[in-house]
Amino acid sequence: MENELLKEKVRNIIQLPALPTVAIEVASMIDNPKTSIAKLTNVISTDQVLTAKVLKIANSPFYGFQKKISTLDFAIMVLGFDSLKEILLSISLISAFKRRQDKRFNSKEFWTHSLATGIAARTIARDLGYRISGESFIAGLLHDIGILVTYQYFHSDFVRIVDAVSERKVTFHDMEHTVLQATHAEIGGWLAERWNLPDQLIEAIKYHHRPEMAERNPKLTALVHFVDFLCHKAQIGVLSYETPRDCNPAALELLNVSETELTQAYYDSFGSKLREELDRAFTGVV
Ligand SMILES: [Fe+2]
Ligand SMILES: [Fe+2]
Repeated sequence: MENELLKEKVRNIIQLPALPTVAIEVASMIDNPKTSIAKLTNVISTDQVLTAKVLKIANSPFYGFQKKISTLDFAIMVLGFDSLKEILLSISLISAFKRRQDKRFNSKEFWTHSLATGIAARTIARDLGYRISGESFIAGLLHDIGILVTYQYFHSDFVRIVDAVSERKVTFHDMEHTVLQATHAEIGGWLAERWNLPDQLIEAIKYHHRPEMAERNPKLTALVHFVDFLCHKAQIGVLSYETPRDCNPAALELLNVSETELTQAYYDSFGSKLREELDRAFTGVV
């Protein structure tokens, strides 16, 4: 399939999920300092499924409240605006793409990898004082969304790619090129364009395996690239066919840390911390 043709096809998939409007509305409300809990409660309560899930998460042991939290406004207070934004975007995205899994696609592993990349990217950005922490969770969460699009909408191509990777010594990326003339990174980037996401997010998704191509916000792309590598290395959410081999040295340089430093700090100790946060905070989401 010609690359342009595939791009057109991705853009025209009629059933391609829209990012749920409530999540987008809430995300932009949260970015506005004038937003009150009452206003957020009004918007979220228009979606019963979201409301139920927010309550369930606020009642999870992670937040440690003895008493049952039964109202949305109290749940929002407990969670805090930033976590609420992350939780809503994750829930909406995961339910928008909900499909049964099969032996070639383990959706639990996929979402674990995506959430882990998001959480780790946000944590590292905050810890190291990068000015991109707000965007880093969503960039990490969405970086491999093209794999899901391929699985769902180009299923026979996906089967060909994954089977070839498991039978022969070919890489996922090479096989994607052979079969689709495009990679999941590009496909994810086209979806992000269609969702009208900010340019730096489109770029981080599109170039997460080629961070040197990023122009708009090279640091964000470098961070997603590194964290993706880190999560695979720590075996958190394993996509057996898509394992990044190396971490680009230029990306590490841009993040202003050496690989050993980062690996030391975030792979050894952070691996278990991350797993814990994932287990607790997202109980019931994946
Ligand atoms: Fe990827
Ligand atoms: Fe990945």
